[in-house]
Amino acid sequence: MKSKYRIKDIKLAEAGRLKIEWAESHMPVLMTIREEFKRKKPFKDWKIAMCLHITKESAVLIRTIADGGAVVSIAGCNPLSTQDDVAAALADDGYFVYGWRGIDNKSYYENINLALDIKPDITIDDACDLVYTAHTTRKELLKIIKGGCEETTSGIARLRAMEKEGALKYPMIAVNDARTKHLFDNRYGTGQSAIDGILRATNVLIAGSVVVVVGYGWCGRGVAARASGLGALVVVTEVDAVSALEARMDGYQVMPIEDASKIGDIFVSVTGNKHVIAEKHFGLMKNGAILSNAGHFNIEIDIDALEKISKKKRTMRPNCVEYTLANGHKLYLLAEGRLVNLSSAEGHPSEVMDMSFSTQALSAEFIRENYKTLAPRVYNTTPEQDQRIALLKLSSMGVRIDKLTLQQKDYLASWKEGTK
Ligand SMILES: NC(=O)c1ccc[n+]([C@@H]2O[C@H](COP(=O)([O-])OP(=O)(O)OC[C@H]3O[C@@H](n4cnc5c(N)ncnc54)[C@H](O)[C@@H]3O)[C@@H](O)[C@H]2O)c1
Repeated sequence: MKSKYRIKDIKLAEAGRLKIEWAESHMPVLMTIREEFKRKKPFKDWKIAMCLHITKESAVLIRTIADGGAVVSIAGCNPLSTQDDVAAALADDGYFVYGWRGIDNKSYYENINLALDIKPDITIDDACDLVYTAHTTRKELLKIIKGGCEETTSGIARLRAMEKEGALKYPMIAVNDARTKHLFDNRYGTGQSAIDGILRATNVLIAGSVVVVVGYGWCGRGVAARASGLGALVVVTEVDAVSALEARMDGYQVMPIEDASKIGDIFVSVTGNKHVIAEKHFGLMKNGAILSNAGHFNIEIDIDALEKISKKKRTMRPNCVEYTLANGHKLYLLAEGRLVNLSSAEGHPSEVMDMSFSTQALSAEFIRENYKTLAPRVYNTTPEQDQRIALLKLSSMGVRIDKLTLQQKDYLASWKEGTK
């Protein structure tokens, strides 16, 4: 096999280890699953390639899967999200690790190929770059890969498009669609960490500012709630009538992006869609407006257009670039329009990744146990798995809940009892 790692600096390993230890102490559910994997060794003789943000939480997942008996490789899934000290710690521990913060596009895809060189039985993706590469330039791997897991909304959209076209060649588990994932990770994780990223890049006061949330899905709900909690006036823009109505009834102003562009102080896009903040909007914006994105890809803000119409550009602070427009207005783009929470902060708190990555771990085990009967389709996780993870999480928080009585179970399953 080729070199086991391509990272920034192996000397950062000790700092990375401390970060991973911190995450482990905040991820009780995944640590419980790790103990089980240590005993059962579900992945004995299997190889698992990952393309995830190389963060302390992903490291906890890697150690868990490895304790289950697998050989593990990882490539970063975003050019600005790799925590170099964590990558160093993983490399120093002997994992196949490929990624560094600030990577160029060519090296990014070389690393994805290196991660695939282990000839994996399972792929674990965050936005489908492993799946895409295996289905295009590394087709020889399609005979080897037994299944895969996908972490995020944008990745599931790509998978559903592949499934529809008959292009998908191995079964995929839609980890994002598990209730214990999107209800918590997308909402509370993105809600808190996107604000964290904006604050670390700008340190502006949120109270009293107008925060425009573009897209009121799971992430948008979280960002709106947290911005509002800090005292912002939240404006939501949407294209889906039901989501727009929900935002309005949750107490936010709802209007088209064209109108919101004129009043926003801070913009956060979370749509998974392209150019939702486009050229025509920049010219309408107030002097000093801050632009950020928390959707997976850096396509939500039309950065090429912003570059084109700007007269001057300079870096004001880490992760904060000032663009001066022809009308003299200055706009501030955070983290190059990449996921602001992972690029300018540390991503989601460990507590929330505890559930997302427990879903990943159990979904990988599900593939190991069931791959012979799975078709090349997108599968949802089971309700039982959600219940298990939620119960473990509740128990780690010291929270107990009720159980259905037999009488209640019968009642819920019957149709004969009506008005009394
Ligand atoms: N930053 C992170 O760590 C993180 C975490 C989870 C998900 N994500 C990513 O965030 C994005 C959103 O995920 P989600 O789970 O909230 O998706 P979602 O499908 O629940 O919500 C997206 C919303 O955007 C709306 N939308 C689409 N086009 C729009 C437009 N032009 N203008 C306004 N609204 C528009 C949709 O109607 C929908 O309500 C995805 O790219 C996902 O992969 C990022």
